[in-house]
Amino acid sequence: MTLRIAVAGKGGVGKTTCSALLLRALALSGVRPLLAVDADPNANLHQLLSLPLPEGLGSLREQQRAAAGGAVPLTDRIASEVERRLSEGDTVDLIAMGRGEGPGCYCYVNNLLREALDRIEGGYRAVVVDNEAGMEHLSRRSARRIDHLVLVGDPSRRGIEAVAALRDLAAELALSIGKTWLLLNRPYGVPGRAATETLGLPLLAALPHDPRLPSWENEGRSFLDLPPGESPAADAVADALRTFLLGPAA
Ligand SMILES: Nc1ncnc2c1ncn2[C@@H]1O[C@H](COP(=O)(O)OP(=O)(O)OP(=O)(O)O)[C@@H](O)[C@H]1O
Ligand SMILES: [Mg+2]
Repeated sequence: MTLRIAVAGKGGVGKTTCSALLLRALALSGVRPLLAVDADPNANLHQLLSLPLPEGLGSLREQQRAAAGGAVPLTDRIASEVERRLSEGDTVDLIAMGRGEGPGCYCYVNNLLREALDRIEGGYRAVVVDNEAGMEHLSRRSARRIDHLVLVGDPSRRGIEAVAALRDLAAELALSIGKTWLLLNRPYGVPGRAATETLGLPLLAALPHDPRLPSWENEGRSFLDLPPGESPAADAVADALRTFLLGPAA
């Protein structure tokens, strides 16, 4: 079964970085092929994976809603368009959700989109979803199963409050989530235990400030190529993945 991991958190906390590091860790553990889903309308996960920016699915939704009839049934049209919009890499393929919905009813097209995505996701060993700040996309994915929801937080008071709000929203939406984790980014010496006790969430990992990450990003190199032992943050994510997120059979 496809392992589904969703990454969420407040703006700028490190969601995209952690998503790319999780993909790297999965690939290093031999979990391939992988699908990355950029669910942020300001898509930038492709930069960390050195992949071309895929055309977002948002415009597809608009197009198909506008196009009445046609020789090819809508379901087939949508499925092949979704596939066409995959940015393909050696270990990771990427799809971008694009911008949200305009006014009007998109339920029918959204359902077809979800079906097409489900079918595509089924072809991968694991899927990592990089969400926009907040939970909008998560709530749209409400019908879908998430094995691990990773809430990225910094240990400031506002950071903890933001994670608590996301934790509560996930519970309110009654999302189908296997397990919710706290991933502390740049904890600046604040003990993870205090944050996990306040939040009542298990600590997945505490990533140190790691100048290697922004410099790797600025050099335009794929995070998938970060070798083991070069980046303490990347190694911490790989350890956490092996210890907590992958079952013995992975
Ligand atoms: N542990 C870390 N050490 C050093 N720099 C980091 C670390 N984590 C993230 N960064 C840097 O912080 C910046 C913001 O990270 P990132 O883009 O992953 O955040 P985000 O939560 O996805 O932001 P947004 O809400 O805009 O999508 C990036 O330049 C990234 O390189
Ligand atoms: Mg981001």
